[in-house]
Amino acid sequence: MNKKILKIRTPKGQYSIIVGHNTINDTAKYLKPLLNNNRVFIVASKKVIKFHKSKLLKVLDNNNIETVLVVIDDSEKKKNFNTISIISNTLLKKGIDRNDLLIAFGGGVIGDITGFVSSIILRGIKFVQIPTTLLAQVDSSVGGKTGVNTLHGKNLIGTFFQPQIVIIDTIFLSSLPKRELLSGYAEIIKYGLIMDYSFYKWLVKNGNKVISLNREFLIKSIYNSCKNKAKIVNKDEKEKNIRALLNLGHTFGHAIESINQYKKNINHGEAVSIGIVFALKLSQELKHLDNKKVDNAIKHLKDIGLPTSLPKSFKKNTTLKKFVLAMKKDKKVKRGKINLILLKKIGKAFITNKFPEEKLNKVILSQLK
Ligand code: NAD
Ligand code: GLY
Repeated sequence: MNKKILKIRTPKGQYSIIVGHNTINDTAKYLKPLLNNNRVFIVASKKVIKFHKSKLLKVLDNNNIETVLVVIDDSEKKKNFNTISIISNTLLKKGIDRNDLLIAFGGGVIGDITGFVSSIILRGIKFVQIPTTLLAQVDSSVGGKTGVNTLHGKNLIGTFFQPQIVIIDTIFLSSLPKRELLSGYAEIIKYGLIMDYSFYKWLVKNGNKVISLNREFLIKSIYNSCKNKAKIVNKDEKEKNIRALLNLGHTFGHAIESINQYKKNINHGEAVSIGIVFALKLSQELKHLDNKKVDNAIKHLKDIGLPTSLPKSFKKNTTLKKFVLAMKKDKKVKRGKINLILLKKIGKAFITNKFPEEKLNKVILSQLK
């Protein structure tokens, strides 16, 4: 399987997700129908530029597409309004106009902030995602969620703004540190857990091949992830209902990231992995899942190399009250009630705000111990 194409269909139109190896070589072919002139603006991560600048720029140059590059430091701490302002002003200074197209070239942070800028600059211009982390390739580049973090919590300001196309090329993953690959894997296993039991079983068997970048297994895992995400986004673009299922572990994970002030010792995927453990344990407390299933799922996360418990330093400085307060900053909170994604069984998630508070507290306390 060298190249596969998926479609996202929203009320405003549809777009393609190209998944494969060396797909970047066809970028000009994909972009040409979208261009009103012969130039593109690119917001890129410093690290991605260091490793992969020529891969994208050469292809565009060879096809007479002019490029205007804006390179930024893309740490999670910089995913804020200030960076949005810096990028927007830089693009305006460089003369961007409504006919231009903006490319996000980097991981989830670059994708989320570039998507956000695209949705507001000049009241909205076309944008394209070229994701370069595993996490961005299986999740954040697909489905049109954009946003930034605020002092009040993670991703609390943003828009739904769909890209024109997503070009996923596994070639970029060759330079990605193992820790970042694992971070992406947390979002991959999420799809198995919430909606696709046979994918879950396949991952338990083949996850190591995915992480060791075996091309066939890697492409299959990215394709299956995007296919599952497409199924949900096609039915519920703006998270009125089932899209929330994609947030398994995220209410816990976002609270962890926010309390940890987005420091690098816990990245997004790692927070999600630990958050999934919270969700599994609460599902077990509520008797939806038996001990063996929960233990096996946690074992898989551990075996693959993902964290399943909080670092000591985090536990030392965090009380139950502080944790619950951070959880209450989640976008799924309605009238003060926390909505959680839990599992009825492995491969079937549901959303609920009906769980005894003491059960939730018990799980949080056990993880803070
Ligand atoms: P990231 O963007 O911070 O990238 C991780 C690190 O890898 C960064 O240091 C980056 O510079 C570096 N990097 C990127 N590509 C590289 C490459 N090819 N080689 C070497 N280094 C590379 O993190 P992420 O895990 O990609 O994304 C996490 C973000 O995505 C979070 O902010 C999260 O909230 C967001 N997210 C959004 C959605 C959505 O639907 N919009 C979904 C999931 C996650
Ligand atoms: N990553 C969750 C979503 O896109 O809805």
